[in-house]
Amino acid sequence: LDEYNRIAADFLDKIERELRRVLTPRRPREIYEAAAYSVFAGGKRLRPMLLLAACRAAGGEADAALPFACALELIHAYSLIHDDLPAMDDGDLRRGMPANHIKYGEAMAILAGDMLLNLAYETMAEAVENNGGGPFARAMGIIARAAGARGMVGGQVLDILSEGAQITPDELKAIHSGKTGALITAALTAGAVIGGAGRERAARFERAGELFGRAFQMKDDLLDIESAAAILGKPVLNDEKARKVTYISMFGPQMARGMYREAAESAVNAFRDIGDAYLTAYIGGMIDRVN
Ligand code: IPE
Ligand code: IPE
Ligand code: MG
Ligand code: MG
Ligand code: MG
Repeated sequence: LDEYNRIAADFLDKIERELRRVLTPRRPREIYEAAAYSVFAGGKRLRPMLLLAACRAAGGEADAALPFACALELIHAYSLIHDDLPAMDDGDLRRGMPANHIKYGEAMAILAGDMLLNLAYETMAEAVENNGGGPFARAMGIIARAAGARGMVGGQVLDILSEGAQITPDELKAIHSGKTGALITAALTAGAVIGGAGRERAARFERAGELFGRAFQMKDDLLDIESAAAILGKPVLNDEKARKVTYISMFGPQMARGMYREAAESAVNAFRDIGDAYLTAYIGGMIDRVN
């Protein structure tokens, strides 16, 4: 456990420092302030932590992967700022603080999201320029595809279109795979590629990521009905308010809990097969998370 805590603390420290570096205030001051407000509000840093852990598990050095880990967190932060906008989920609380648009207004929140997305690519491009192409260029491609219409944005589109609609369980699965699974899967695949994994080994990280991404969003939906805003740091019972289709609205809480346990178990097994003790323990902690 000591070894686990040491690695996790080291990764978190590296991630915070790199995020501070890329978000060093420049002009216009207002946009850096709005972007930093959301990035440093205290997220779990799940995606960068996964990317660094996958890189390490594949035999690489975390430092080389840092710009990509941070780029993913910047993309994630932008996606949450936009996700909370009144036109989308209309959430007023995020990471225990007023949502970005509540604090800075809708126009600045939209621009802060735009800025973070571009900063993510700038950060990755800089790393590719400094280190040459190869695995770094491949990692950038993996992240770019996962963030767009074939991944996170596509999932958000389906999520919005499904509000108040009748959809099938497979369609719900596709929403989860897109809006949440894609960035999580990209973290694992890109991390493995930077760490030196070959095609076959990287595919195992990808598969494990898909399973975990699905379980992670099921848990997110469960926490929306089971938790309290003070613990979660975001509004509870917001899915029903926004007329979202979730495993709970589709199957009821009892069955949804059972389905989550099954999904979580498949994910943990996939990571156990990859065979890295730190990564498996980290996933276990996220399965039991409370926020
Ligand atoms: C929340 O993500 C949105 C989903 C994709 C489920 P996280 O649960 O990783 O949120 P933070 O980054 O810790 O705030
Ligand atoms: C994840 O889904 C959305 C993103 C890709 C940003 P949710 O809409 O359920 O996330 P929360 O519950 O607001 O964090
Ligand atoms: Mg949403
Ligand atoms: Mg939301
Ligand atoms: Mg949610």
